[in-house]
Amino acid sequence: MPAEFFDPISDHKTPPTYFFFDGTSWKGSESGKTVPVVSPIDGSPVGNLPVVTTNEIDQVMASATAAQPAWEATALNKRVSVIHLAADWIRQYQEYLTNLMVREIGKSAEEAKSEIVRTADLIDYFADEAEALRGETIDSDNFPGYEKGKIAIVERVAHGVVLAIAPFNYPVNLSASKIAPALLMGNSVVVKPPTMGGISGLHLVRIFEKAGVPPGVITAVTGTGDVIGDYLVRHPKISMVAFTGSSDTGLAIAGKSPMKPLLFECGGNNPVVVMPDADIALASREIIKGAFAYSGQRCTGIKYVLTTPAIREQLLSQIVKLMPEMVKAGDPRSPDTKMVGPVISEQAAVHVEEVIQESVKNGATVVMGGKREKAMIEPTILTGVIPTMPVIAKETFGPVVSFVDVQSFDEAVTIINQSSYGLQASVFTKDEGTGIVFGSKLHVGSVQINGSPQRGPDHFPFLGVKHSGVGVQGVRYSLEAMSRIRPIVLNKPQ
Ligand code: G3H
Repeated sequence: MPAEFFDPISDHKTPPTYFFFDGTSWKGSESGKTVPVVSPIDGSPVGNLPVVTTNEIDQVMASATAAQPAWEATALNKRVSVIHLAADWIRQYQEYLTNLMVREIGKSAEEAKSEIVRTADLIDYFADEAEALRGETIDSDNFPGYEKGKIAIVERVAHGVVLAIAPFNYPVNLSASKIAPALLMGNSVVVKPPTMGGISGLHLVRIFEKAGVPPGVITAVTGTGDVIGDYLVRHPKISMVAFTGSSDTGLAIAGKSPMKPLLFECGGNNPVVVMPDADIALASREIIKGAFAYSGQRCTGIKYVLTTPAIREQLLSQIVKLMPEMVKAGDPRSPDTKMVGPVISEQAAVHVEEVIQESVKNGATVVMGGKREKAMIEPTILTGVIPTMPVIAKETFGPVVSFVDVQSFDEAVTIINQSSYGLQASVFTKDEGTGIVFGSKLHVGSVQINGSPQRGPDHFPFLGVKHSGVGVQGVRYSLEAMSRIRPIVLNKPQ
């Protein structure tokens, strides 16, 4: 029963106050302060999260540091079994977690379920891949001037304590994508869940605890970033920071974590380029999916389309036709809702609305949508947008897609490369060779040809350049990032 399994993590009042996890016990904070988690669907309270104190953070860090060496010394096959069991528990509680996530962050039931299933699969894949990682030995005589006198034994070892900071839009998956590789590589993990989505995040931590992660090896601290964020990221016991969130927050954290390995996925603001020979029906469907899935709150969401005025008109006429069939905005609890529900809060929706209005004042035209009711933003399409308008100058985390006219595709390259973002870009063309040549000119992490930007499949490398990220994720890449190599050089007398 979920109640039994998740019993210790809250006080069960209405609404419940959840606890933080110090590595051994779930408990309220000595601060006595909490932060409310409110459903974006109807503003109802989902629960409260404790705001931990710096003293509690110090205690958690001390436990994480003390527990790490024994965990790293535990046989990999035993760590792998624990991680597989966590995946099994996630499957077991799939329905419970799905319902919780729908209410907590306003994902549609289908999107929330897919996040849960994907997370269990991802964790299993991480565990299998960790067993397949190998070290190497290197001989000295490969290098000019050296004889056979030295051999480097190169092993992978843990960093120590990994701070894992997850965002609200994938509170389970983007926590697990940090927790699982960190644990598999022998690190301890301090999880800082988002505030909205934090309750789902704490459930995930409970699952890892129940699966057998030893005391202190996984912990979870809660509280708003502005209160505890600085103290956490500057903490001397943190060996590595893994973060997903906005570029502004990523830049701020990076500045406060000098000389530490970072694995960051930040804002995307992803463009799509539609070439004259593109399959217009395919491009239109992918633009709709890419722009409106989870109400545009994905770092891989499509934010703007670069094409000529003639192609733009063809796309718009297809998109307008396809929208009613593909997008049904509404209450995410309803099985009819597709893609567009509320954004994470009314405050976030007001911001999206302001950005739309500001861009319209500057000359953009609303072709569809543009209105707000509470936390709901209508699926919105703008034309006549130029790169300096607020709707695309910064990532707009909502269901809004902008059309930017270009006279040539070289101009599209310039616009993409001048952006401070660089997560992904998509190119639509029937000539795959042209797509590859064009894609190789773009300063972004990955290029999709004839498909919308996306992270998955999760074993593909996933990275951002410029302000979109640091380091490479994807199963093997994350395992490598969550560890370092340790060469031991044997000097053999000749
Ligand atoms: O929001 C950031 C996520 O990494 C996007 O993942 O492409 O699977 O939606 P996704």
